[in-house]
Amino acid sequence: MAQEPKIDELMQKKAQAQLGGGEARIEAQHQRGRLTARERIELLLDKGSFRELDSFVLHRTTDFGLDQQKYLGDSVVTGWGTISQRLVYVFSQDFTVFGGSLGEAHAEKVCKIMDMAMKNGAPVIGLNDSGGARIQEGVVSLGGYADIFLRNTLASGVIPQISVIMGPCAGGAVYSPALTDFIIMVRNSSYMFITGPDVVKAVTHEDVSFEALGGADVHSEISGVSHLNAESEADALLSVRKLLTFLPQNNMEDPPFISNGDDPLRMEETLDTIVPDDPGKPYDIKEVIRLIVDDRQFFEIQEAYAANIVIGFARLGGYSIGIVANQPAVLAGVLDINSSEKAARFVRFCDAFNIPVLTFVDVPGFLPGVSQEHGGIIRSGSKLLYAFCEATVPKMTVITRKAYGGAYDVMSSKHIRGDVNLAWPSAEIAVMGPEGAVNIIFRKDIKQAEDPEKRKADLVADYRAKFANPYIAASRGYIDDIIRPRETRPRLINSLAMLSNKRDSNPPKKHGCIPL
Ligand code: HXC
Repeated sequence: MAQEPKIDELMQKKAQAQLGGGEARIEAQHQRGRLTARERIELLLDKGSFRELDSFVLHRTTDFGLDQQKYLGDSVVTGWGTISQRLVYVFSQDFTVFGGSLGEAHAEKVCKIMDMAMKNGAPVIGLNDSGGARIQEGVVSLGGYADIFLRNTLASGVIPQISVIMGPCAGGAVYSPALTDFIIMVRNSSYMFITGPDVVKAVTHEDVSFEALGGADVHSEISGVSHLNAESEADALLSVRKLLTFLPQNNMEDPPFISNGDDPLRMEETLDTIVPDDPGKPYDIKEVIRLIVDDRQFFEIQEAYAANIVIGFARLGGYSIGIVANQPAVLAGVLDINSSEKAARFVRFCDAFNIPVLTFVDVPGFLPGVSQEHGGIIRSGSKLLYAFCEATVPKMTVITRKAYGGAYDVMSSKHIRGDVNLAWPSAEIAVMGPEGAVNIIFRKDIKQAEDPEKRKADLVADYRAKFANPYIAASRGYIDDIIRPRETRPRLINSLAMLSNKRDSNPPKKHGCIPL
């Protein structure tokens, strides 16, 4: 009996903490079309699995009358729970408390779960909805951000870190999500920028809306900051759950093997005719991917950005894999600055988390042009080369058509530790395409010919027959085998099983100097 009043007090406080900044602000949050921090956690995690931490934490600021405004738990909800029965840590910024702004207490709560996630080897998911640094707390708030940035960096490559942007994320606050592995944005509801429209107007005289400056579409199509866009908050949270099915809990684990009903020996006849006879004609590499992977399920990342390269996760015979593929349907699959950087980062993520990389190659080379050269295609292309070279996870490569020039080397070739390199009979592996090659080595010959057009056509045909095929590379062992396209799935699954105990490493070093 003596305990009862104390238990009542506890229950009252717990109920109060559940309300964050109060009912009116919760209503305002709903009016904005957004869920509250706790509602989001409920949707994200397995039902009933959330265990909240630090719901009694209060801010300690007395300036600007803040001592009169205290909310249990301050402006972020933190704790752990499960997704598909696997442990995750989560923080969810509470916009109903001081606009989700980050002060000392908020930062300490986030740091606490990040430290726990590192110790216990589990992913951290951040649900971001915040007005940024809590203005009343000044430099203490900036210090809090830096404490988080440091942890983001130390956790990089150790545990997966996923950020969902569900409201404002502005100023230096963007750098915590930016340091994480994946950013998911909600369309028409979230935005990210370093300086907002007012500052932009004052400095550059440009008129721009929140959405046009830093909305989900901008970051998925133009800047490449967002990896996945969602139509709603619920969709965004579902994407996190799906994404995690491909990832291990930490860098010491292999990704989960999930067997499914798709026959590992399935032949796919359509693949035999999918590459057009005309080498200039496009086809959709995503269709090739879907025909090969389990249940046609391809989880694409950064779909709208640098679409000339395709990246994403899938399963093959139950194994989780990362796929990198030139896309002949966009810019002929050429490598340029953006596509090189997009793929390089993805390869490094897969390598850090023991996810085998499957590469489909149909690449005419690097994109020519002044803007590409001046924009640093040399630097960017080398990032992709570096990423493939340093990766020690199982690497399988399928050349479907063109593998020209430096791009042949870059795209996970045998020479840079490709484990299983296959080619389809339609593969053309050469220093450059027949037209370009003939123009260079037979320029005089063509000029002096009676019928230059005919002479050139003959030479192109001759070159194609001699060099634009996979047999010369295969005769050197640069290609392990030339296969019928229909056998690609069984061959890859067999190779993955063969590679499942692969051990390879790089020389000891503090870290490499990737040309950033
Ligand atoms: C303290 C804040 C706050 C902040 C919002 N609030 N941002 N309190 N510090 N940074 C409070 C508001 O006073 C308000 O309190 C409540 O949160 C909701 O804000 P509203 O303005 O009413 O909401 P809305 O109209 O939806 O506008 C949201 C907003 C706006 C666009 C985010 O609040 C805003 O512009 N805030 C300031 C953004 C900013 O400049 N932050 C600093 C960025 S620099 P009441 O009591 O009325 O509910 C930065 C540096 C980080 O973050 C550096 C890291 C290295």
